[in-house]
Amino acid sequence: MLLRILYFSTAHADLTAAEVDAIVSHSVQANAARDVTGALAFNGRNFCQLLEGDELVVRDLIAKISTDKRHSGFKVIDEKLVQDRAFPGWAMQRVRDLDFSVVINAMTR
Ligand SMILES: Cc1cc2nc3c(=O)[nH]c(=O)nc-3n(C[C@H](O)[C@H](O)[C@H](O)COP(=O)(O)O)c2cc1C
Repeated sequence: MLLRILYFSTAHADLTAAEVDAIVSHSVQANAARDVTGALAFNGRNFCQLLEGDELVVRDLIAKISTDKRHSGFKVIDEKLVQDRAFPGWAMQRVRDLDFSVVINAMTR
């Protein structure tokens, strides 16, 4: 079984678009190395991210992300054990989705 987890957070007020791009490119590399997949949406103020992979690996990653100074108000919305990935083949998909529905709906799969 895999752990799938969904969280929301609020970007630091000074975070630039280039810094968000850097988070995504780091995540693509680092998640691929850990066999973690998922999706990240950013509406200009809030992040909504879904992560899935080995339970211990995902919990370790979430612990790191939750203390990252580039955002605050980190809040896990939902988590569950699943058989199959919602974003297979996506180490981290950048989702252009202002109301987060693509990412939120993937949680229910
Ligand atoms: C909104 C947000 C999402 C992030 N998502 C990921 C992610 O999916 N994978 C990842 O490795 N780091 C992610 N990070 C970065 C981590 O907080 C942290 O900087 C990184 O894991 C440190 O990596 P390292 O220990 O390999 O240097 C994210 C940061 C933010 C602010």
